[in-house]
Amino acid sequence: MKRTLSVLLAGLALFAACKSEKPRAIAEDPVIEAKIKEHLSRMSVEEKVGQLIQLTAGVVLEPGTDHLSAQGEQILRKYKIGSVLNTMDDAASAPERYRNFIAQIQQVCIDETGIPCLYGLDQIHGASYTTGAVLFPQEIGLAASFNEQLAYDLGRITAYETRACNVPWVFTPTLDLSRNQCWPRMWESYGEDPLVQSRMGVQQTLGLQGDDPNHVDSKHVAACIKHYLAYGAAVSGQDRTPSMVSKRELREKYFPAFKACIEAGALSLMVNSSNNDGIPFHTNKELLTGWAKEELGWDGLIVTDWADIANVFDRDHTAADYKEALCQSINAGVDLIMEPYNPLVFDLLMELVQEKKIPMSRLNDAVARNLRIKYRLGLFDDPYSQGDFSEFASEEHVQCAYRAALESEVLLKNEGGLLPLSKDSRILLVGPNANSMRTLGGGWNYTWQGDAANREEYTGQYNTIYEALQNKFAHVEYLPVLEYSNRPYAFEEEIVGDYGKALRAARRADVVVVALGENTYCETPGNINDLNLSANQKELVKVLSQSGKPIVMVLNEGRPRVLREIEPLAQAVVHVLLPGNYGGDALAALLCGEENFSAKLPYTYPMYVNRLNTYDYKLCENRATMGGLYNYDATITSQWSFGHGLSYTTFEYSNLKVDKTVFAPGDVIQVSVDVENTGSVAGKEPVLLFASDLVASLTPDVRRLRDFAKVSLAPGEKKTVTFALKADDLAFVDHNLNMVLEDGDFRLAVGPLSQTITCSR
Ligand code: BGC
Repeated sequence: MKRTLSVLLAGLALFAACKSEKPRAIAEDPVIEAKIKEHLSRMSVEEKVGQLIQLTAGVVLEPGTDHLSAQGEQILRKYKIGSVLNTMDDAASAPERYRNFIAQIQQVCIDETGIPCLYGLDQIHGASYTTGAVLFPQEIGLAASFNEQLAYDLGRITAYETRACNVPWVFTPTLDLSRNQCWPRMWESYGEDPLVQSRMGVQQTLGLQGDDPNHVDSKHVAACIKHYLAYGAAVSGQDRTPSMVSKRELREKYFPAFKACIEAGALSLMVNSSNNDGIPFHTNKELLTGWAKEELGWDGLIVTDWADIANVFDRDHTAADYKEALCQSINAGVDLIMEPYNPLVFDLLMELVQEKKIPMSRLNDAVARNLRIKYRLGLFDDPYSQGDFSEFASEEHVQCAYRAALESEVLLKNEGGLLPLSKDSRILLVGPNANSMRTLGGGWNYTWQGDAANREEYTGQYNTIYEALQNKFAHVEYLPVLEYSNRPYAFEEEIVGDYGKALRAARRADVVVVALGENTYCETPGNINDLNLSANQKELVKVLSQSGKPIVMVLNEGRPRVLREIEPLAQAVVHVLLPGNYGGDALAALLCGEENFSAKLPYTYPMYVNRLNTYDYKLCENRATMGGLYNYDATITSQWSFGHGLSYTTFEYSNLKVDKTVFAPGDVIQVSVDVENTGSVAGKEPVLLFASDLVASLTPDVRRLRDFAKVSLAPGEKKTVTFALKADDLAFVDHNLNMVLEDGDFRLAVGPLSQTITCSR
């Protein structure tokens, strides 16, 4: 009996210890928690409900001004609105205009409820809705750099220049693992690999928020990681369409970046607009409350995407009406409703609370999460973001964005060492992306669709590719024989001119630079029917090739447009992705050899539109011909593979060392490799460590990226790169959603070198 009792007591003690040790993503701040408790004890139900509602700025703004409309003030007061988002008049504004507008919102909200408003903005690759701000390459370009410091700088500078507008919250980073190259939002994310997505996302989050998520200072903002979960896995490749990802795969590939950012302190999360295997993400309690909040011990804020509770009933039909959709979503774990135009959601929420369909405990929890982020951001102390913002668009910020552009542009091909070009080459420049600031920026660039970015007021001070080439090369002739139309929502429309004229000019030139790709788009308006590069653009290259002059193809596009037929016609190919306002300057410096390329593709560039795959494909997707009568071979055919990227110098890998040939779970495996710059110019090389599980109980991926580092090497210099690889990072997720590391062989590969090691218990 005594023994049983002591076991019981020990068990209880253990239970208590486990309970108190439950992981918390962000340490609890007792002062903040006490204040929240106090609010909750005295707030009316109306005040609580209002905290859950977010409206778009247009509903409360007097159009064309920087002040609240009379009706806007009434709405804020009547519905006790907790949050506002978006630009004023659907376009970027100067910091001053935001400050004036937001100050008025704060005055009204604080006067009405004593609680400041949480203002959020899509500042996507820098403060992209702020005129004069310093804009970086889009995330996809930063992924290509394989340089985490750049993602940190992006976060830091975005935060500073956003806070200068008195906006404390941004809807970034985007962590959508992009697994379908047709998807119009792949450029918004860090590409197709889960590790790159996690590592870059974490750095961007830290840059945005600073070191202490409980006390974000006045030069930092709250991050909003999005879109949870598997948004980039749309089966159709069209925006906001379903994914069919198993829980196992969600866990293994899509969840890690969100988990890593939450563990790094991310203060909020936005939900995927679509649905997976029949369940809208907005009503998926297991993912929202279970995985994100409970399992990670995360006390952050979950916001819907744009009007997505309405989508639950009027698009997805998993609720009979708006009220039922609201009930499902709030009970699933949504804390803030981005219901941009419809404050009447207030009445329905009130009914649901009165009918106890939304329990008071859930309402209080959602309100607490809204209040907590406002406290963490210091909004109660300083809702007007006073302070010195003299570093706005500083030279240091500009240099960071320029370096990021330089490190984001990928040299895919350089036959016969055509590049770098001599500065006195006679260059003919053509192509629809040659003289456009708009195409360098992409979407979320001064406007949602990026379609106004060519306007002088936004980008007059920056250089298009044409202007930048003129600054470096003595003879640049530009012929606008193929251009994009600037008609709204017609990003695929092209204006075709006289290709014969271009051919004649090409014959007089030493080299032809042809800048191709896509015009800008964002979200659903960017859906396409055909991943092929436009027929006009392909034809242009074919015509130019008749000149016999070498062709440098510059690709400036948000997703990889298929160009198999024209690739052989170009001696050099540079993929600049969406490099931002300094992308033209960076390209010119790279083409003339003042700078060196150092980026690698962050996704698989397809060769055929029906052969879309990612680098971590399954073995049956790529196998050699079998013997005998039947040929079951399947081959992976990509134009360029994930991780491909050239340089003006050469790197030699040698001396791969692994400190354990046999390892066990929990071990850390030291992997080192020597990388030497064997060419004649300085260069930076992303060193990628891949691992392959050679036999597993679930068919393994052919390989997975497990670590990466970027090294800088002078000519002749050699450095040893060391990775501390956790054995547990080689595990996979099984059908019970557990991470399992099975005994057996694993092949580690770095550059051309590889070594097999064995897991054995
Ligand atoms: C997009 C989000 C964005 C939100 C707010 C939505 O349409 O999907 O990425 O943050 O709008 O503008």
